[in-house]
Amino acid sequence: MDFKLTEEQELIKKTARKFAIEHLEPGVIERDDLAKTPYEQIKMMGELGFLGMMVPEEWNGAGMDAVSYVVAMEEISRIDASAGVIMSVNNSLVCQIFLDWANDAQRQKYLTKLATGEYIGAFSLSEPQSGSDASNMHTFAEKDGDSYILNGTKNWITNGLTSDVLMVMVPTTKGIGYKGISCFIIESGIPGFSRGAKENKLGIRGSETCEIYFDNCRVPAENMVNEAGQGFRIAMKTLNGGRIGIAAQALGIAQAALEKSVAYAKERKQFGKTIGTFGAIQSKIAIMATNIEASRLLTLHAAQLKDEHKSYAKEAAMAKQFASQTAVDAARECVQIHGGYGYMQEYGVERLMRDAKITQIYEGTSEIQEVVIARSIMEE
Ligand code: CAA
Repeated sequence: MDFKLTEEQELIKKTARKFAIEHLEPGVIERDDLAKTPYEQIKMMGELGFLGMMVPEEWNGAGMDAVSYVVAMEEISRIDASAGVIMSVNNSLVCQIFLDWANDAQRQKYLTKLATGEYIGAFSLSEPQSGSDASNMHTFAEKDGDSYILNGTKNWITNGLTSDVLMVMVPTTKGIGYKGISCFIIESGIPGFSRGAKENKLGIRGSETCEIYFDNCRVPAENMVNEAGQGFRIAMKTLNGGRIGIAAQALGIAQAALEKSVAYAKERKQFGKTIGTFGAIQSKIAIMATNIEASRLLTLHAAQLKDEHKSYAKEAAMAKQFASQTAVDAARECVQIHGGYGYMQEYGVERLMRDAKITQIYEGTSEIQEVVIARSIMEE
């Protein structure tokens, strides 16, 4: 296995890092405090090709590979994990469904705009009663001539408030479990579609999350992706790739925690010495760095398998499970190293701790990743 980045991937890393430092770092603490989304910066990310990274150029994308996507996601999330998740959902959930499952007319109409950031996409699977048990849906889409009438509620929708297009999983046949779920492309703003209030979250406060309501919402049958009954498989297969993106997001948060810890340990003096000379601090930094290296290798490995069109569900789950734990641990230790200052908002360290937690929850909790890993191993 060779994880050396190509010249092009190095360039993407440099570009993403420069963009994040110049355009995302200013105001990141304030945006978190006020729960403000970096709209302007997201638009710029679209112009740079960061919102449709793996979409071929013929559909207006950047035509890059999954390794490049991981590298860029890490850099963006290292500075602003909220921008990271907006980017991740648009790329690896929404654009990816168009690439893998939609027809050319659907790609022409929507993907060409999603790939440039002209449209922002959202992915809608969860419902109030179904998070990990994702197929236990109460929403329903009733066929009526050449349309479907949707009713019900979806929740925890990242990009929900500003999305132009949503990929929504809804049952079209009752009583046959996941085999009755279908996937629809839904344009926000159509009659019967509405959004709830912005959720007030612990972390990633610069990304918007809300509920989505369907009240006799009529959607043309041509907006179904692939065939009726394929929705759950589409969601599961797509989430495998999404989990690589979240692993990269976690990696970015952990890397930020490490860098801030090292800088502070070299500068802060106690008992007449810089705290980095104390074994207790060195041990924290060593464990952080080791786990980050392991997370990066797992994440790049999953991305490489995806690029090689090999199966990667288990590896993506391993990457997400490990990198998210690493992010949570690294951010917590970073606050500890900073002591009282770490607990203060202005140091930008407590935010890492709050942002890290979600990586163990969304796109499948750590416990669900363990289910995916164990099932895969037992089937081998
Ligand atoms: N990859 C590919 N296919 C998969 C799969 C995977 N990881 N997991 C399940 N499937 C397929 C199965 O092969 C099966 O299809 P076939 O009939 O074609 O074989 C079908 O899905 C049903 O599988 P199961 O019987 O195993 O389903 P289950 O009900 O036992 O659930 C689960 C499996 C792994 C627990 C699944 O429900 C799951 O992943 N839950 C977590 C849901 C999740 O990740 N939600 C994230 C919400 S989206 C989000 O967070 C985005 C955001 O805003 C940031």
